[in-house]
Amino acid sequence: MVNANIDFHLEKVPVQLKNLTKKFMDEGKIITAVDNIDITFEKGKLTTLLGPSGCGKTTTLRCIGGFYKPEEGEVLIGSENVRGVPPYKRPTGTVFQNYALFPHMSVFENIAYGLRVKKMSNKEVKDKVNKGLKLLQLDNMGDRLPTQLSGGQQQRVAIARLLVNEPKVLLLDEPLSNLDAKLRIYMREEIKNIQRELGLTTIYVTHDQEEAMTLSDQMAIMNEGRIEQIGTPIEIYNKPANKFVGDFIGEANFLEGSIERIVENTALVRIDDYKIKSEVDSNKYAEDDDVLIMIRPHDVEICNEDEADIITKVRWAAFIGAQVNYQVFMPGEDDFTVYDYHADQIKSAEEDINLKIKKSLVIEKL
Ligand SMILES: Nc1ncnc2c1ncn2[C@@H]1O[C@H](COP(=O)(O)OP(=O)(O)OP(=O)(O)O)[C@@H](O)[C@H]1O
Ligand SMILES: [Mg+2]
Repeated sequence: MVNANIDFHLEKVPVQLKNLTKKFMDEGKIITAVDNIDITFEKGKLTTLLGPSGCGKTTTLRCIGGFYKPEEGEVLIGSENVRGVPPYKRPTGTVFQNYALFPHMSVFENIAYGLRVKKMSNKEVKDKVNKGLKLLQLDNMGDRLPTQLSGGQQQRVAIARLLVNEPKVLLLDEPLSNLDAKLRIYMREEIKNIQRELGLTTIYVTHDQEEAMTLSDQMAIMNEGRIEQIGTPIEIYNKPANKFVGDFIGEANFLEGSIERIVENTALVRIDDYKIKSEVDSNKYAEDDDVLIMIRPHDVEICNEDEADIITKVRWAAFIGAQVNYQVFMPGEDDFTVYDYHADQIKSAEEDINLKIKKSLVIEKL
């Protein structure tokens, strides 16, 4: 946690990427790691960049930090276009996966490193480092070596080392991935608290969905070098922009159908013999459109036949304690998952099952 009495000069600025493209050459082949992205990271907010391995998260972060030079596009930090500015002159601070502390240097000297590079006077260095130590409640640990600290304390040293340089933007690339599960949960709370109290614009790369949901003010979902959607965790979960996002965040079923009717924001979607009411953006979809709808497994209820939207059979069932997971037969689909949270008995394979769809969303045109 942060010592609130220590006053640091940290400025809040947004970060803007405009038409940013970064390519690599790999054995004569061009790889477009970041493909013409446009995004604003709001000032003072924590935004996660989330997406599958290889989608371009680290490359994006490194373009912001100045470690890669983009082929096209601009990076603006506040109102400053940082094209051509080397990393150490950018108002950014980067935390890498393993914190990259110098093992042979004391905690004090680790934090002092960047200030000494800038040739600050000894007095200034001492003042700033002591302030950094206090801020991150590492008061009596200046003389220790990094190996004499816990994982959490090492992380705080890594953050203190950045903060003494008074960055405007914090860049973190999977900072918790080396930690065990328990420490990871503890540390993500710490990061959130530090970020919130300092109010620094923070861009946080992860491929851990839960980590992203817990930490984010905003999430940016990346896929193949592009941003698929930006929004709060709730917006992304409840209103994914397309199948990729719906599938990537949380559990989802998808069914193909066609729109019979639209009344305000509700579409009646015909799927084989069934008709399902589905939330729809009536500006984007019209009657007779062939569409994909998304249904989350917990938005389906097992009901009596007369209330059912879908009458089918169980493919298989698994009792996992808090719920029963059913796979059921569905026209044209291999998988359709339903969670039953109120089971006092479990249906067996081939048994009839009646389903009420409590919520679904028209997600894509086919
Ligand atoms: N220095 C490089 N040379 C060639 N190709 C690269 C280089 N760095 C990254 N790439 C390629 O660019 C793409 C994006 O890589 P990047 O490291 O940004 O992905 P990522 O989203 O951070 O993935 P991960 O979650 O695995 O860390 C990948 O296809 C990767 O192989
Ligand atoms: Mg990466």
